[in-house]
Amino acid sequence: MYTTIPHSHAKLYGMTDLVAVARSLCSSGKGLLAADESVHTATTRLASYGIAASPEMRRKFRDLFFGTEDVERYLSGIILFSETLSEKGDDAKLFPESLAARGIAPGVKVDLGTEPMQESPQELITNGLLDLPERLGAYKKQGAVFTKWRAVIRIDGDELPSTVALHENAKRLAHYAKEVQGAGMVPILEPEVLLEGRHGRARARAVIVETMSTLFSVLDELSVDKASLIIKTAMALSGSAIAKIDSPEEVAEDTVAALLESVPRQVAGIVFLSGGQTPDQATANLAAIAKRARSANAPWPLTFSYARALQEEALAIWKGKEENVPAARAAFLDRLKKVSAALV
Ligand code: G3H
Repeated sequence: MYTTIPHSHAKLYGMTDLVAVARSLCSSGKGLLAADESVHTATTRLASYGIAASPEMRRKFRDLFFGTEDVERYLSGIILFSETLSEKGDDAKLFPESLAARGIAPGVKVDLGTEPMQESPQELITNGLLDLPERLGAYKKQGAVFTKWRAVIRIDGDELPSTVALHENAKRLAHYAKEVQGAGMVPILEPEVLLEGRHGRARARAVIVETMSTLFSVLDELSVDKASLIIKTAMALSGSAIAKIDSPEEVAEDTVAALLESVPRQVAGIVFLSGGQTPDQATANLAAIAKRARSANAPWPLTFSYARALQEEALAIWKGKEENVPAARAAFLDRLKKVSAALV
């Protein structure tokens, strides 16, 4: 049962092309690098490796990864932060242009971060809808072909997430998706169920189901085209505060079951965030999930869209120093190969 797009709409919005772009991001045997850390997150991330952030250091941080030879063999796309769209690599080419020339689709994070919800102050709501149409026009001119919006879903016992937070985050994700498709770009909807907390894996699984079910009922209310959107999700994992390491098979069983229960078959694909897992855990869990999804005949393609699990080892080597660039790039490429190999 695929969504039928009225011919006039398909022509107006290029929906047919959007489906092809969305599918190629997820089903080419490659994955995504999430290099969309905001200024604040990039500053904290770099500081944790002893690197003092500045606009130039952030540019070098991006170039470390984008300038690595051969990444196009493993990456279908890279999610950028808006400032990166207008920056140049050490090759003096604009990042979106040099990525596109190598067959890597440039995308951009378009949400403007989170703030506590008035109705439920322990939970977060994502901002960025107000001036979205204008910003989308500018990002598209700068070369972005897809976009991402992250919502944050916090688990606390049986109390959180609240219905109001799930619903308001779903509503904003749906409005975002509708705007983005109308602007002729592919939306990646990321309702991230946080790893932080004292919950067990079964609770994470149930919350993923509740989050996705709420999201898809709102997407249907707004008639958002499902075939040209991508879902980005956390895996079903025990909370980080209980220090239980789930086996890859356990993670795969609960993650695939949750997604089969709540994500319609029409979506172009599902991509995973790493969420604070070590690079080895994120790699082993992805391999088990891919295997499980194949044996369950899951209807959507699956791949990775990691930030930390792909970048961590390289950053620890780089430390912001020019002389460490070759070794850091080698570590990045090595991790990328392992994560890509997990898909097959
Ligand atoms: O929004 C989060 C990123 O897209 C994924 O980051 O892999 O470090 O969780 P992560």
